[in-house]
Amino acid sequence: MLFLLDTADIEAIRHCNEFYPIAGVTTNPTIATKEKKDFWELARGIRKVIGDEKMLHIQTVQKTADKMVEEALLLKKEVGGNFYVKIPICEEGLKATKELKKLGIGVTITAIFTAPQALIAAKAGADFVAPYVNRLDNIIGDGTEVVSQIVEQLDHYKIDCKVLAASFRNAEQVHKCATFGCHSVTVTPKILNTIITHPMTDNALLDFDRDWKAVYGDKTILDF
Ligand code: G3P
Repeated sequence: MLFLLDTADIEAIRHCNEFYPIAGVTTNPTIATKEKKDFWELARGIRKVIGDEKMLHIQTVQKTADKMVEEALLLKKEVGGNFYVKIPICEEGLKATKELKKLGIGVTITAIFTAPQALIAAKAGADFVAPYVNRLDNIIGDGTEVVSQIVEQLDHYKIDCKVLAASFRNAEQVHKCATFGCHSVTVTPKILNTIITHPMTDNALLDFDRDWKAVYGDKTILDF
């Protein structure tokens, strides 16, 4: 399962890119506007930090297929590298996706809340479909169950489209997606850190330090 970062905070991206095995970054208009920066400064800044090989998914703000295609081509030109335009699921979005696939542009269809939405998006040619887990859980919609259905259907029909599960509030939701064989998730830096943190791990490290110091004091292996 690939881990992507769902943020446009350049410093957080720089930190996570250094310490975690992230495969890329996703943004949406809400995430981008939180940074209160010039849009191109932000988009190019993220690309500079993660390099050309990692995925960068940026959402279009257009409403018609023609304009979505135009914006996607501009984003690809300006941001470059391994790029995917995020397009919300809707008729215009499906039309734009079919066109963009002919032009060789990566597409992630987003704001997915049901398996049938994902199936149609995948049939239109989306490279990724992004179901919103926590927003479904908030309305007792069982977000991870929807992810499981999408993974199963894409596999059943052998459609070349991956699930990029999004909208997480906790590590348990991410873990459940992994148990269903979800291809990728996009999470906040905070959730990424929560995933690797455990009080029993902290206790184990304290024990190791105490036992080592009791015999060797401040010496490390480098000092022998
Ligand atoms: O990228 C879209 C998705 O991650 C939204 O998350 O937390 O606003 O529900 P959230």
